[in-house]
Amino acid sequence: MDQTITLSFVDKGGVLNPGELEERCRQAEPVLRRAVEGDPQYRDFTGWRTVDEHAGPDRVAFLQKEADRVRKDADAFVVIGIGGSNQSSRAAIKALRPKDGPAILWAGNTISACEMARTLEELDEYKSVYIDCIAKNFETLEPGIAFRVLRQYLEKRYGEAEAAKRIFATGTPGSTLHQLCKDHGYTFLTFPERVGGRFSVLSDVGLFPMAVAGVDIAAVTAGMRQMRDRIFAEKAEENIALRYAVLRKLFLEKGYALEMLSFFEPRLDYFAKWWVQTFAESEGKEDTALYPIVSSNSEDLHAVGQYVQQGRPILFETFLEIRARDASVILPPETKKDYFDYLTGKDFWDINEAARKGTFSAHSHRGIPCLCFSIPAIDAHTLGQLYYYFIFSCYLSCELLGVNPFDQPGVEAYKHQMFALLGKP
Ligand code: PA5
Repeated sequence: MDQTITLSFVDKGGVLNPGELEERCRQAEPVLRRAVEGDPQYRDFTGWRTVDEHAGPDRVAFLQKEADRVRKDADAFVVIGIGGSNQSSRAAIKALRPKDGPAILWAGNTISACEMARTLEELDEYKSVYIDCIAKNFETLEPGIAFRVLRQYLEKRYGEAEAAKRIFATGTPGSTLHQLCKDHGYTFLTFPERVGGRFSVLSDVGLFPMAVAGVDIAAVTAGMRQMRDRIFAEKAEENIALRYAVLRKLFLEKGYALEMLSFFEPRLDYFAKWWVQTFAESEGKEDTALYPIVSSNSEDLHAVGQYVQQGRPILFETFLEIRARDASVILPPETKKDYFDYLTGKDFWDINEAARKGTFSAHSHRGIPCLCFSIPAIDAHTLGQLYYYFIFSCYLSCELLGVNPFDQPGVEAYKHQMFALLGKP
């Protein structure tokens, strides 16, 4: 199978001037070079850049061994975490739907009492439950309180000693979470110091829950390395990561406020959430940046599709095309008159493709700039490529914008208000 990801675009409205993209890529060559070589100013935040620093073959083998221990015994595995700590593994698990592993549940990503109660109720249905609390510094409220509730749930069900064997925690060495593990015998995994949440897919944070679920993490990391090698080798004008970053910057400059990621496989809904988080939390600073939104089609064509076709022209669109057919359902003949006979014998796969092509054509004819990523398949290797690709492009995109990709000072504002209401000392 051809594993290449390509990026093309159609600009029927002539938003970009001829040669403008290439010229701007040439100008941005130093930005690309700095990112590829490792910019000293971001040394403390780019532990993900080489892939191998925290997701090399030895670490993958170790994580797989730990995951196999869980897989042998667990019926359910709860991933506790929020933001960058849970999004990447959830994206892969929901997209790939591995079949033979434990049920994967998510907690610590909401403070909804209803969701917490439902999770506890659901866990009663499983015989053997394991948990992994992922939190960089273990100061975030959501995973902190979910971990307490679930820890006590396990202790009540299995007793303290047996519960300890079922508890994993992924945090920064030296953090209070690490201390908790040392004090009570929980298995401690590493949230690398030099990797922030939304860049943490290339570490124990993203890879361990994937491995427990049954995702082939060796394939994921092979995909990451393939994309790394490609980005590191391609010249600025042809560089797939830089071209995307520059296109985004150009459209922002030309007055577009939003980028919409459009896809026709609901399996990718959580991947899209990861994409939104990566770009919104990295770029949305200093009163600038594109607002990333999502259209999960064909469902959303019956909702936001109307706005895209005839509303204010404030967005450009980035489509995902999947080349490999991995499912087939043929519409059977029917004697009852339902007036869908023109589709008899057709595969849902091809009907969906017609919807994708038709949407691309309708939107680009309206003058909306339409980008298209053609990806080989929805599989572990391709997801690995996409993770590395979007993280790297996002970093470049932040550099072009002039914002720090690795901090998120804005998220503190609501926390101050909330903590005041909760009487945090
Ligand atoms: O990308 C980020 O840094 C954030 O989204 C964090 O991952 C999120 O806030 C959770 O942080 P922590 O792992 O420290 O609980």
